[in-house]
Amino acid sequence: MKNEIGFGVVGAGLIAPFHLNAIKDSVGGRGVGIFDINKEAAQKMADQFDLKVYDSLEGLLADPEIHVVCVATPNHLHRDIVLAAAAAGKHVLTEKPPAMSLAETDEMIAACEKAGVKFGCFVQCRIRKAIQAMKQAVDSGRLGTLLRADAYMKWFRPLEYYTSDGWRGQRQSGSGVTVAQGFHYIDLLQYLAGPAVRLEAKMENLNHPGIALEDDAVAFVEYANGAKGIIQLSTALWPGTDIRIELNGTEGTAIMVGETIETWKFRDERPEDEEIRNLGDASQATGAGGAADFGHSDHTVVVQDMIDCIGTENEVVIPVGDVRPSLEIILAMYQSAHRGEPVEWPVADDPSAW
Ligand SMILES: NC(=O)c1ccc[n+]([C@@H]2O[C@H](COP(=O)([O-])OP(=O)(O)OC[C@H]3O[C@@H](n4cnc5c(N)ncnc54)[C@H](O)[C@@H]3O)[C@@H](O)[C@H]2O)c1
Repeated sequence: MKNEIGFGVVGAGLIAPFHLNAIKDSVGGRGVGIFDINKEAAQKMADQFDLKVYDSLEGLLADPEIHVVCVATPNHLHRDIVLAAAAAGKHVLTEKPPAMSLAETDEMIAACEKAGVKFGCFVQCRIRKAIQAMKQAVDSGRLGTLLRADAYMKWFRPLEYYTSDGWRGQRQSGSGVTVAQGFHYIDLLQYLAGPAVRLEAKMENLNHPGIALEDDAVAFVEYANGAKGIIQLSTALWPGTDIRIELNGTEGTAIMVGETIETWKFRDERPEDEEIRNLGDASQATGAGGAADFGHSDHTVVVQDMIDCIGTENEVVIPVGDVRPSLEIILAMYQSAHRGEPVEWPVADDPSAW
């Protein structure tokens, strides 16, 4: 068996236990330590998962037992931590979005390349069996010409979600439904139907008074392959219903709801189709009604993949470079909503649109 791979986690908030449980469930991985500027939060996590607590990021990065750093801090802080981890020769798994701009994303990718470390991103919904089946159907041409690619995320978060922590109420920190919750489903559309070439978006705050960011976004997107589609993202709609990802082509239709296949119909029905219709766990929550209301099994696949890739020439399953086009869609949505006009590719950074 492989030597044990040690993990250090930076940030001991909501998502950290998902990383730590994933590491615990992995084969060959071990949680070593944690750093958080809130020492109490770090200590609590350390007690639960039997970890060392460091006084600084530098302390964590200096620990030779740590081979991989998981970045689980607010979005606007990912860049500095990733750059420091790469400089220390650690492999990195960062939470989504990888960073707040394309320039920062490119800087992080270049730093990891230069340091010779692997750099992956937790857009773990790509791992779902239903999404993998949809991806294979698209790539093998089973849908024929792809005509529609839609995401409907009609979720709810209470006002306290946005007021509980400074960064969750601030767009400049990477909050707002588009970049925070929506990132996963925009990433799925980009993975299945991308790249995008043009979009038009509108954003509003419908149900969270006093918060200066959008809790509702709608976009009409055109893709390079000719497909078009809708992105509907909301945390304003009580009580929240399961995410829907819909693909329609000239030869078939595939729809995922939550993490299961709801519709799987092709002109060329195949023997494996019946099994695909039963993929996924219908009882598994996928985040519609609460921020921590989902399982960690998809995170585990990303962690296991990193362990298996270390010491090989293999690229990780979700390299940050593959997630960059999803960030382009996010930025284009903010820019279109801000300017009141469509945005066409190539997309450039525009901090004034955040
Ligand atoms: N993949 C997913 O499904 C998923 C779900 C939720 C959140 N996330 C992502 O995880 C990240 C963290 O989100 P969260 O909900 O856990 O936030 P959170 O606010 O619950 O936790 C963030 C933690 O980071 C700590 N922190 C802040 N600045 C720090 C610094 N400079 N160094 C070390 N620690 C620092 C805070 O004290 C806090 O404990 C975000 O990027 C978010 O988008 C991903």
